[in-house]
Amino acid sequence: MTPTLPKGPWDLRSGPCVAGAFLLALLAAGCGPSPEELDRRYPPGKEAAALAADKQAALAAELEKTFGTPAAPKLDLADAKVPGVDLTRLAHGRDRFRHHCSHCHGWFGRGDGPTAEWVNPRPRNLWRGKFKFKSTELAAKPTREDLLRIVNLGAHGTAMPSFALYPAGELEAIVDYVIHLAVRGEVELLAADDIRKEGKDPATAVKDSLEIVGPRWERAPGKVVTPAAARPPLDAASIARGKALFQGEKGGCVKCHGKEGRGDADPEQVKVWDKQQEEGLLWESPSRPADLTVGMYRGGQRPVDLFRRITEGILPMPGFGSSLSESERWDLVNFVKSLPYEEERKP
Ligand code: HEC
Ligand code: HEC
Repeated sequence: MTPTLPKGPWDLRSGPCVAGAFLLALLAAGCGPSPEELDRRYPPGKEAAALAADKQAALAAELEKTFGTPAAPKLDLADAKVPGVDLTRLAHGRDRFRHHCSHCHGWFGRGDGPTAEWVNPRPRNLWRGKFKFKSTELAAKPTREDLLRIVNLGAHGTAMPSFALYPAGELEAIVDYVIHLAVRGEVELLAADDIRKEGKDPATAVKDSLEIVGPRWERAPGKVVTPAAARPPLDAASIARGKALFQGEKGGCVKCHGKEGRGDADPEQVKVWDKQQEEGLLWESPSRPADLTVGMYRGGQRPVDLFRRITEGILPMPGFGSSLSESERWDLVNFVKSLPYEEERKP
């Protein structure tokens, strides 16, 4: 399959078209927008693009009041303040994002950079405002520290690299820009839905959506999942309790992760996810349960990262915060941590 390269300044199609040997090829591909055009306005996401032209233009004008343009991004959220975001460095964050992140995440962060086609899982579409690996409750936004953490450490076992070698200030500015893209993208999506389904006028739709999305980011630090019970010692008794939960009815982890934790889920279940993914209900790539025998965890290697994953889940993995006690979840962490070692895997 020949992938179609998304248009962006990184590819030769943008800027003035050059004559000469490449002319035919360039004509066949068409000229992409110039950098100036790309900076003038954010192209509409899927939902906004589906609106009638006049509604689309009015929505874009409303969004610009709060979020500015790609050339001059801002985040003017009235009452809600996203903790830690420093608006004076947004433009710097945008430049560094374009430099480091856009070849995967796309020029505008929509998960459609030229590299995206070649990696599995695909890079996150930051415009949905949804994140997998965070310290907060499932439905809550990530904290700024969560985003900084994943940019620092990467997501092990995926193409998302670590940027820990870059200056902290640069990563802070990039994270501000990621938050700007995520808030803008989700507000646009919700507002477009309101305009289409409820016939709201664009100004009201944007105002109402801002009142939902802004406070969600503001509240995130209060939604961090903090275990009250201490982790039991990593000993044979705890591992055995974790194993019984993992393989038994109560935990039911084997339904998805397989008896030995290798991630061999029931094929019927996989079909359901694939359908949901096609409908845009899950993530950018088809979901598959993690192979826990590898000992690499995308959302962080610390025991507390696994505790949070098991407590809250990662769509489509359910959370076990209400069905298992804290000490049971810790036993599961201890068992999962032991899974890379042959003996513990035996059913
Ligand atoms: C080589 C490709 C690549 C580059 C470069 C890259 N990423 Fe990613 N990124 C990914 C992939 C792939 C994922 C999805 C991981 C998954 O779904 O498990 C991801 C996920 C993320 C997430 C979402 C994490 C979550 O909890 O859902 C954030 C935030 C992110 N990247 C930010 C960045 C930033 C900021 C940069 C630049 C400093 C960057 N990425 C550079 C590939 C990349
Ligand atoms: C309905 C299916 C399902 C069930 C049940 C399930 N999981 Fe998962 N699990 C998944 C999927 C899918 C992923 C991969 C998510 C991703 O990376 O996008 C996953 C990932 C994980 C990860 C890796 C997290 C990381 O950071 O990479 C751990 C650990 C885990 N599951 C533990 C468990 C435990 C323990 C149980 C039982 C208490 C369990 N899971 C039950 C589907 C499931």
